[in-house]
Amino acid sequence: MDRKWWHDKVAYQIYPKSFYDSNGDGIGDIPGIISKLDYLKDLGVDIIWLSPIYKSPLADEGYDIADYYSLDPRFGTMEDMERLIAETKKRDMYILMDLVVNHCSDEHEWFKKACEDPEGKYGEFFYIRDQNPDGSLPTNWRSYFGGPAWEKVPGTDKFYLHMFHKKQPDLNWENPEVRTEVYKNINWWLDKGIAGFRIDAIMNIKKASIFKSYEPDRDDGMVGLERMLKDAKGISIFLHEMQDKTFSQHDAFSVGEVFNDKEDELSDLIGEGGCFSSIFDFESHIFGASRKGWYASKPCLPEDYKSSVFKSQLRAAEIGFFSNIIENHDEPRGVSRYIPKEELSIHAKKALACAYFLLRGIPFIYQGQEIGMENTEFQSVSDFDDISSIMEYDLALEAGLSKEEALECVSKYSRDNARTPVQWTDGDNAGFTTGKPWLPVNKNYKEINVESQEKDSKSLLAFYKELIALRKAPEYKETFVYGSFEPYLRDEKNLMAYIRKGNGKTILVAANLQRDGIAIPAPGRIDGILLDNVGNAQLGVESIKLDGYQALVLEIA
Ligand code: GLC
Ligand code: CA
Repeated sequence: MDRKWWHDKVAYQIYPKSFYDSNGDGIGDIPGIISKLDYLKDLGVDIIWLSPIYKSPLADEGYDIADYYSLDPRFGTMEDMERLIAETKKRDMYILMDLVVNHCSDEHEWFKKACEDPEGKYGEFFYIRDQNPDGSLPTNWRSYFGGPAWEKVPGTDKFYLHMFHKKQPDLNWENPEVRTEVYKNINWWLDKGIAGFRIDAIMNIKKASIFKSYEPDRDDGMVGLERMLKDAKGISIFLHEMQDKTFSQHDAFSVGEVFNDKEDELSDLIGEGGCFSSIFDFESHIFGASRKGWYASKPCLPEDYKSSVFKSQLRAAEIGFFSNIIENHDEPRGVSRYIPKEELSIHAKKALACAYFLLRGIPFIYQGQEIGMENTEFQSVSDFDDISSIMEYDLALEAGLSKEEALECVSKYSRDNARTPVQWTDGDNAGFTTGKPWLPVNKNYKEINVESQEKDSKSLLAFYKELIALRKAPEYKETFVYGSFEPYLRDEKNLMAYIRKGNGKTILVAANLQRDGIAIPAPGRIDGILLDNVGNAQLGVESIKLDGYQALVLEIA
């Protein structure tokens, strides 16, 4: 395998609005990020992915871009951004921007011009269709955020397609001019000195060649967009073109947000012949999801988590690298999702961290994960900012759930769980802002915050530092980065264990994801204890004892 600069890196996702506010307006910003670079460097982070900071009405919190070349003043100026790039370079760090090009904002110039003249040049930038002769919508597709995927072009009988919110009109990738504009923008940012992109919602850019209605999948008469996407063929031509014209020219790192890729598609997506450097592994995130909505989702228990992750690891083995996460800005907090509430403890958080972090692939940490931030509490639907939470709440009510039940289900999955401000201190607003935070701080900030964990050598933050240092240690790096992955004692319930082997070393990672202790056979003589979240592991023994939620990293002879 060709070696790439990003193979051995550790990445960290920043959701700028909630990271750190430098000027007291309650909104995190670029100067705020700059002031925390030393914190991130000290943690061991190399690559920073910034969720969108472009000019935007923030209908979908920045995933609706009104100008790809300028920044939203709420986040800062272009000078701030240039300073951020320079400051990261000084620290041998890298910046990834978010590339949101399946759609733009309805406030983008292109869309405004398309509305003025749907038959003109910019009309071709979008999917604009006539209504049916009977006045109905062009198709019965349901947008991801609920309701029809078609919205009226103001003042006409025509409709435009939006797979997400109606303020996010889809860009027409079939139009070469659109693609040229997109590539120009990517190169403009790469020339500015960023190291690559996280690529948003990208598997949606190729639509079915014929727009038609399908069999409804709910009582609303509509059908989820997954159905239409099944008929979309040939996306890889666009993706490879984008790669050739942009990323390849700059040796950039690209990580795709790819859901539901087809079984045989992986080698086209990642690895030597892939159009991205990496894609996120969402297998455990989609586990238990229901077509009906969040209210009908099944929880992902430790055994489910293990089998989802192992499936992906084995799938990617000969092909390339997944990017591994336990959470992001669209998901609940990983510790709240994968660990049963009654069992949530510092040991459990460390065990989960250890289990995912040493997998084969690029580890990503989402802001606040390193201190174990948890899901927040919502008192009523009016506490939600996230548009998808509000839609899911309505869906649950329509399905007959009571208000309390609907709130409970939606609270578990709300994207706002991940979007509450980072808890820096136990002071006012968790030290995030001197003003009023745009989204309320999680009430547990007095117990969970960076400041107190920095002083505590047994904290989760300290453990993440150890994990990162271990992954990068000169004697083990080669094994963790390029070594093989093999499940170990796969059938042992609630044990997530695997062996990383390579460069003459064999390393066992074993996390006991349950309250009860267990004893397991050692795969060979234990020569070294590289990490132990409890602190009672022994060398030389034939049987390894694991307390509840104990995680061990052992070197095997
Ligand atoms: C991606 C983003 C999400 C956004 C959606 C539409 O899934 O991660 O936050 O709402 O795309 O851009
Ligand atoms: Ca601010």
